[in-house]
This record gives sequence, structure tokens and C-alpha cells, in this order.
Amino acid sequence: MALQKTLSLLLLSLLTLLGLGLVQSSYGQPMYQRFQRQHVDHKVTGGNNSYCNRMMRTQGMTRHTCKQFNTFIHENIRTINNICRNRKTIPCKNSRMNCHAGVVRVTDCRNTGGSPPNNCQYQATASRRRVVIACDGNPLVPVHFDS
Ligand SMILES: *[C@@H]1O[C@H](CO)[C@@H](O)[C@H](O)[C@H]1NC(C)=O
Repeated sequence: MALQKTLSLLLLSLLTLLGLGLVQSSYGQPMYQRFQRQHVDHKVTGGNNSYCNRMMRTQGMTRHTCKQFNTFIHENIRTINNICRNRKTIPCKNSRMNCHAGVVRVTDCRNTGGSPPNNCQYQATASRRRVVIACDGNPLVPVHFDS
């Protein structure tokens, strides 16, 4: 009897774990969180050099080296998620086929020198341009900025 009870409990725990795994959506996944930290800032519509210098540092891209190039998208995260819903997929740089393109407001930050972690220097270029992002999960969310 005791054995049967233990077995049922085990089975129940297993089913619960499986269930949790299934309902956990891609909105919580680390790659999506990271994409948002490194590439999304809807609070401004464009940035200058000081914007890049500050954001590259606060968003964690100058810890050990100055990241050479990074793009901030100035759109609502919903607008960016919608790019993933675009049915047309295009090849990413790594030749996987999970990339999608859209036109958005951005600031491109290009490293011009300086030293990590607090003095990386960037050249900013604000524009409205076509970007390519890789999407993954269900629902599809951006996980990588391609170009
Ligand atoms: C950069 O933009 C900020 C905010 O718009 C502004 O306060 C600052 O003076 C600008 N800095 C330079 C170097 O243009």
C-alpha cells in the first residue's frame, strides 16, 4: 500500500513538472531577456555618442572588452515581436532560416576606442533602417540581432 502511494506521488510530481515545462512560454526565456537588454530602448527615438557610451556600459556590453558594434532599436517591444510574426523568413548570417526583417528606428553604436569597463567610446548613427532579427520559441520572440 505504502509503495503504491509513493509511486502515485512520484507520477504526480513528474506530470506536474512536465506541465510546467509545457506552459512556460518563450517570453521568459533568457535569450529573449538578453535581446531586450542589449537591443531594445523604446524611451528615445535616437541617440548621440554620449547615449551610446552610457547605454553600452549600463546594458552590460563593456564589462571585459568594449563590444565592437551594437544596435539599439527604438520601438515598442510589441512592434519588434511583430517582426517575428512576419511569415516571410530570410537566411541569417549563420545561414539558419529563422530570420525576419523589418524597418525600425535605431541607433547603431560603433566602438572608436577607450577601455573597459567604464571608458569605452562609441560613435552613434541614428536612422530608420531595415534590421534582420532571428526569432525562436512559441510564441516566436526575437533571440538574436543579426544585422
Ligand atoms: C546628447 O543627447 C542628450 C540627450 O538628448 C543631450 O542632453 C546631450 O547634450 C547630447 N550630447 C552631445 C555630445 O551632443
